[in-house]
Amino acid sequence: QHCILVGAPVDSGKRRPGCLMGPDSYRTANLTRALRDLGHHVTDMGNLKPAPFPAETDAHLYARNETIGWTKTLTAAAQNAMALGVPIFMGGDHSLSLGTVAGVAAHAAAHDRPQFVLWLDAHSDFHTPKTTTSGNLHGTPLAYVTGRDGFDGFPRVPAPVPEDNICIIGLRSVDAPERTALQASNIHRHDMREIDETGIAVPLAAFLSRVAKANGALHVSLDVDFLDPSVAPAVGTTVPGGATAREAHLVMEMLHDSGLMTSLDLVELNPFLDERGRTAQLMVDLAASALGRRVFDRPTRAYA
Ligand code: ARG
Ligand code: MN
Ligand code: MN
Ligand code: MN
Repeated sequence: QHCILVGAPVDSGKRRPGCLMGPDSYRTANLTRALRDLGHHVTDMGNLKPAPFPAETDAHLYARNETIGWTKTLTAAAQNAMALGVPIFMGGDHSLSLGTVAGVAAHAAAHDRPQFVLWLDAHSDFHTPKTTTSGNLHGTPLAYVTGRDGFDGFPRVPAPVPEDNICIIGLRSVDAPERTALQASNIHRHDMREIDETGIAVPLAAFLSRVAKANGALHVSLDVDFLDPSVAPAVGTTVPGGATAREAHLVMEMLHDSGLMTSLDLVELNPFLDERGRTAQLMVDLAASALGRRVFDRPTRAYA
């Protein structure tokens, strides 16, 4: 495969700075070499910049105009990268997914393929600018890409993702308005309790079967805080009780076995909070698993 590394040093989605160092941290942990060792062709497109934006005036939303600038840049960049290969968006905080998901979904729509999204996260990121109490836009991408109201001044989403095509795994921190909206939605959602009860492979395999049957494109958005803080400390929004390194690798290995993943976000890494690079290294190792690294060869699993 041709992996297209896209640096998205987005730091506007929340108040605590540091995610802007994410792309260089992944480069330092040698994401390129890990993917080349698997036989992939890798192109690093360097780091993007937000489209020009006016001074901030919104009293509630943090860095609203900058985030709109990033959304414009990333929507276009994601569409372009999809034409070249499998984009891997090196974040940057989760507000970058307003653009990456909008862009990959527009590309899928142009090819008459339904877009599916796997959201690996402690949080549901389903706030709108009207419901967020923090004012942090990294808590809003799933609401934006599904076409919910409230995003005044943001670009229109070219091809909203149907709720039924979205699966969130890893949930353990959901704010009250998000909970109400999620329960009224068709988004497939799996909290940590369910993972404990069934194992993580059960809901994932069910979702992958639906993607395969629909011949869908599959975008995977991996938030560092999906992982337990004990193995991934470099994130501003740690929540105890997260996925283990083993569960996360299993998810990535199943994604590769399925052959379904068409794009990937690596988000919320804050290298300023890391310990000797171990979170960056784990994220690189997870990306490698998603792109075929394994201990022993296994038959490819067909999900349809
Ligand atoms: N729900 C919280 C908020 O709106 C946390 C969001 C965390 N999002 C993330 N991408 N880490 O502020
Ligand atoms: Mn194309
Ligand atoms: Mn998130
Ligand atoms: Mn999160």
